[in-house]
Amino acid sequence: MDKYFSGFPGFRELLFSPDTPESLFSRLPALDTPRLSLRKMQMRDAADIYAWASDPLVSRYVLWDSHKSIADSRNYIRYIRRLYRQGLPSSWAMVLKETGGVIGTVGFMWYSSVNQSAEVGYSMSRSYWNRGLMTEALSAVLAFGFDRLGLHRVEAQFDVRNPASGKVMEKCGMRCEGVLRDRIRNKGEFIDVALYSMLPQDRKSL
Ligand SMILES: CC(C)(COP(=O)(O)OP(=O)(O)OC[C@H]1O[C@@H](n2cnc3c(N)ncnc32)[C@H](O)[C@@H]1OP(=O)(O)O)[C@@H](O)C(=O)NCCC(=O)NCCS
Repeated sequence: MDKYFSGFPGFRELLFSPDTPESLFSRLPALDTPRLSLRKMQMRDAADIYAWASDPLVSRYVLWDSHKSIADSRNYIRYIRRLYRQGLPSSWAMVLKETGGVIGTVGFMWYSSVNQSAEVGYSMSRSYWNRGLMTEALSAVLAFGFDRLGLHRVEAQFDVRNPASGKVMEKCGMRCEGVLRDRIRNKGEFIDVALYSMLPQDRKSL
C-alpha cells in the first residue's frame, strides 16, 4: 500500500484526510436515531415543511415567521442548501421513519472554530410534540457536535415562555446558565431568554 501510494504526492492525504468542520457542514452526514433519520434537506421536502411551518403556534417562540405559502418553505430550503454548499452551519431535516415525512428541523445556528463552540436550534410539527422526538434528535446532534465537530461547548437558548424547549435541553444533558433579561426583540416584544450549555464533562452525567 505504502509503496503503491508513494508515487502520488498528495493522494494519500486526499484519501485519508480527516474531516474538517467545513467538509462536515457541507456533507452534513445522515444521523440515525431509533425513530428518526436526520438528513440533508431536499427541495421535495417543501410540502411537508409547509404543513407545520405555516402553524403560528410552532413559530410562536422562534425567530422565524410562520410560512405564508409554500414559496416561503421553498425559499427556506434554498437558503439551507446554500449553507450546505458553503460549508456553513445549518440544519438537518427530521424524517419520521414510520411515515417517511419531514416533521421538523434541527441543527446548528452558528459555529466558532476559535472557541470550538456552536449553538443548536430546532422546530417540529405540533402533531408530534411531547413524544420525546426532539430529545432524540437533539441528543444525536449533540453527539455529532462533540464527536465529529470536536466541539468543547454547545449552547442553546429559548424564550422563557416556552418551557418545553428547556425541558428538551435538560433531558439531553444541557445545563441552565441563567436568564438573560430582554435579550432579544422578537415579533415586536422584548424577550427574556434562558441560556443553556453543554461541555464534554456534562455528557458523563447522562
Ligand atoms: C420545543 C419542542 C421542540 C419540543 O419538542 P418535543 O419533541 O415535544 O420535546 P420532547 O417530547 O422531547 O420533550 C418535551 C418535554 O417538555 C414537557 N412540556 C411540554 N409542555 C410543557 C410546558 N408547558 N411546561 C413544562 N414542560 C412542558 C413535556 O412533558 C416533555 O417532558 P417529559 O418528557 O419529561 O414529559 C416543540 O414543542 C417545538 O417544536 N416547538 C415549536 C418550535 C420551538 O419552540 N422550538 C424551540 C425554540 S428554542
